[in-house]
Amino acid sequence: WGPQDMAKRRFVESRFVQLAESFGFREVSTPTFESLELFTAKSGPAIVRELYAFKDQGGRDLALRPEFTASILRFYVSDLRSRPKPLKLYSTGNVFRYEEPQKGRYREFSQVNAEIIGGAPLPSDAEALALGIGTMRAIGLRQVKARIGNIGVVRGLDYYTGMVFEIDSPNLGAEKQVGGGGAYNLAEVFGGERIAQTGFALGLDRLVMSAEAEKTIEPPRRLDAYVVPIGEGAQRKAIEVLTSLRAAGLGADIDLVGRGPSKNLDYANAIGARFAVLLGERELKAGRATVREMATGAQREVALDDLADAVRNV
Ligand code: HAM
Repeated sequence: WGPQDMAKRRFVESRFVQLAESFGFREVSTPTFESLELFTAKSGPAIVRELYAFKDQGGRDLALRPEFTASILRFYVSDLRSRPKPLKLYSTGNVFRYEEPQKGRYREFSQVNAEIIGGAPLPSDAEALALGIGTMRAIGLRQVKARIGNIGVVRGLDYYTGMVFEIDSPNLGAEKQVGGGGAYNLAEVFGGERIAQTGFALGLDRLVMSAEAEKTIEPPRRLDAYVVPIGEGAQRKAIEVLTSLRAAGLGADIDLVGRGPSKNLDYANAIGARFAVLLGERELKAGRATVREMATGAQREVALDDLADAVRNV
């Protein structure tokens, strides 16, 4: 993923993270690879065909995680059981499945995932669904369809025990299912107690495709200022100016090549900087800088003390 794709992915992911945190979910992180047994314990050996499974140099059977739920429940049983209930956890990251790749279906993809452990079943199921649909809304998606049923609707993963749901983004065509989840029981399978568990995952790749289709992705923050020292004598002061802009919380960058002013303005334009800050020796002596608004080409001189305010995005 290049910078533009990553900006879109982070936009979508951050909407989930912000909403999950605001719902009282807290983040956990589990390893990318797990003991193969974690996935065969419930599903049996047939699941291996759908995994990236391999032996490590010590002869151990391992698998790249195909999802987060089993890993999080293993972690719950080993380390998190004494936490206050309900325990609300979320994770984001890449997962791996040995599938036939096609548009929207990959062998390595990313999920955003949430689990509730130890809540009463129905309110917890509703809370999970609220976060799932809320995430779609927070991304700005309008075309959202959730289908709710019971395990008789059967979903692909075989650990569900109660309410199940799937969330579609109808604008995606064949691979329109952006998320799914429901109530399940894995804690007991991993040696823990009988306790209610519910959760869901949304496919990040598909969410981004929907958001692109519905044009909801906000452009990333632009660089506020690109600092252009003019002449040898301005170099040192330019770094001070750069540092003070960064310390003021602004996005600021500086010429690292030693280009002339006009090449530097071309570069500032190409990277989408909002302002160029031109520092000539004469201006610096007077404690001033020339601020050029890149969109209009309008230039004005400001006192260095007022520079941060002059380039602040208001
Ligand atoms: P899942 O339905 O297998 O559920 O996957 C959730 C979402 O991941 C799917 O709806 C889809 O958007 C995305 N996805 C699945 N496979 C692919 C693929 N090959 N390429 C791109 N995206 C894909 C789970 O993973 C459960 N762990 C959800 C859960 C959490 N249930 C309880 N807690």
